[in-house]
Amino acid sequence: MLGTVRARFEAERPFAGVAIGACLHVTAETANLLRALRAGGAELSLCASNPLSTKDDVAASLVADFAVATFARRGESTSDYGDHVAAVLDRSPDLTVDDGCDLVARLHIERPEQAARMIGGTEDTTTGAVRLRSLASSGALAYPIVAVSGAAARTLADNRYGTGQSTLDGIVRATGTLMAGARFVVAGYGNCGRGVAERARGMGSSVIVTEVDPLRALEAALDGYQVMPMESAAEIGQIFVTATGNRDVIGREHFARMPDGAILANAGHFDVEIDVPALAELSEGRHRLLRPMVEEFVVGERRRLLLLAEGRLVNLGAADGNPAEVMDISFAVQALACEWLVRHREELAPEVYDVPVEIDREVARLKLTTMGLAIDTLSEAQRRYLASWAV
Ligand code: NAI
Repeated sequence: MLGTVRARFEAERPFAGVAIGACLHVTAETANLLRALRAGGAELSLCASNPLSTKDDVAASLVADFAVATFARRGESTSDYGDHVAAVLDRSPDLTVDDGCDLVARLHIERPEQAARMIGGTEDTTTGAVRLRSLASSGALAYPIVAVSGAAARTLADNRYGTGQSTLDGIVRATGTLMAGARFVVAGYGNCGRGVAERARGMGSSVIVTEVDPLRALEAALDGYQVMPMESAAEIGQIFVTATGNRDVIGREHFARMPDGAILANAGHFDVEIDVPALAELSEGRHRLLRPMVEEFVVGERRRLLLLAEGRLVNLGAADGNPAEVMDISFAVQALACEWLVRHREELAPEVYDVPVEIDREVARLKLTTMGLAIDTLSEAQRRYLASWAV
């Protein structure tokens, strides 16, 4: 589908003379997005939005084959990560394409004059959009940003189905554990949590949901899951996945109750959902790398807790991230949102914008076409009926 967008961009060149700086997972799917933007005439630079998700061969190919200035290496240190974000900003992008708001935050904190000159930006993930909305509500957001994470097509495909599948994939690849019959705890019943819970149930796990929002908790209960506080879930869970966008969702008091062999994984954007420093402290130095992406911490007498991917995004650290078909949808939204920002640059204010509904519909339409699926269309009489208040 992104190929269809790319072909149109090639003909129309909406990004001629526009420099785009991206901070995204450096994967083959991201490379496809960049190819579409390049076809539209953009000058491109890229850094990683997560130190563990970079595919080094993709980074090398972006430089060699597609002339994208790429600053990323798998396993890069925190200070290299920061230098790479700065290197992208040094190339004076007109648009930012962010995943977690790091480019935008750095621009606003360290380079306010540069931020004021920007045309616009897009934000890929829920946590980044939360940070942006807080920046906008403080009145400090310097340029318009489209929160791509909220697009209906993306939320369905990426957060729910993509993250649902790839999170389970990461857990299975890292541990080889049997999902059937496992007591599987999902913290957060949002878009990602619903997907994780649904897939875990599909593999035969008995799923428990923890929530702080009564509506979401009710939905989980009506969907047939057990609902309880983390304090209780910690005592019986065997596999734990956090997907909340919040911090310290699993902490010291929970580690102290967990059974031997419990597996801990995070699907939320930042590595703060599981309190890893507290886990390290509790284990008093008794930890070791069991196999790649699986670290064993011994707590109390001899209870072994297995932390996956250092508490970072397990679907990217221990698996290949979201399936390509999902990223095709997400990145088609990204590409069209970038085009929308450039085409409407004169009318836009420094606000966080939702993805225009036309873009959402266009992406869904293109995806259905590539799946070989057709749908009905409204007749004129039906259109009038739906638009009128009198029966
Ligand atoms: P969401 O806002 O739809 O859902 C989050 C849910 O967590 C909400 O229902 C909220 O009430 C709940 N929550 C907050 N604090 C909690 C706590 N202490 N205990 C239990 N529940 C709590 O967000 P969404 O879209 O599901 O995203 C969740 C996280 O996953 C974000 O950090 C997002 O950036 C990230 N994400 C990760 C992806 C991946 O590839 N792993 C893909 C897309 C998003």
